[in-house]
Amino acid sequence: MKIVYWSGTGNTEKMANLISEGISKEGTEASVINVSDAVSNMFDDEDIVILGCSAMGDEVLEEGEFEPFIEEISSKISGKKVVLFGSYGWGDGQWMRDWEERMIGYGCQSVIDPLIIQNEPEDDGMCIDFGKKIAAI
Ligand SMILES: Cc1cc2nc3c(=O)[nH]c(=O)nc-3n(C[C@H](O)[C@H](O)[C@H](O)COP(=O)(O)O)c2cc1C
Repeated sequence: MKIVYWSGTGNTEKMANLISEGISKEGTEASVINVSDAVSNMFDDEDIVILGCSAMGDEVLEEGEFEPFIEEISSKISGKKVVLFGSYGWGDGQWMRDWEERMIGYGCQSVIDPLIIQNEPEDDGMCIDFGKKIAAI
């Protein structure tokens, strides 16, 4: 499995690493890839697209790298399952509701409710359990 993320201050990155740990605990390998190292065809052979990005701008995805990446993969992921996660600060999670709806619009199936955590994840178990759920899809 592959997890592609963007993280400004490390909160979503921490989530990505813990989620990967949870997936590994179930016996499946998941590589964690910073979006700056990601390429548009990297999910071609994957059944599940796992993506993480924090709430940026005004309830949007990070616009420099992550938003263009989503645009790049948007025409290549129809029919795949999608799992989303990310950290937020002062909002109510609107960025994630919009993002999930957008991915469904690309023909993806959202099989697990996205995981959102305010600021830094303090409860490691929450992300690890989320990873275990992904492994069980
Ligand atoms: C430029 C900027 C814009 C942000 N916009 C939002 C926002 O619209 N809604 C929100 O809930 N949090 C917002 N935040 C807070 C971040 O989502 C929050 O600090 C998060 O934990 C950062 O995670 P990261 O370290 O993975 O980037 C913003 C933070 C920055 C720096």
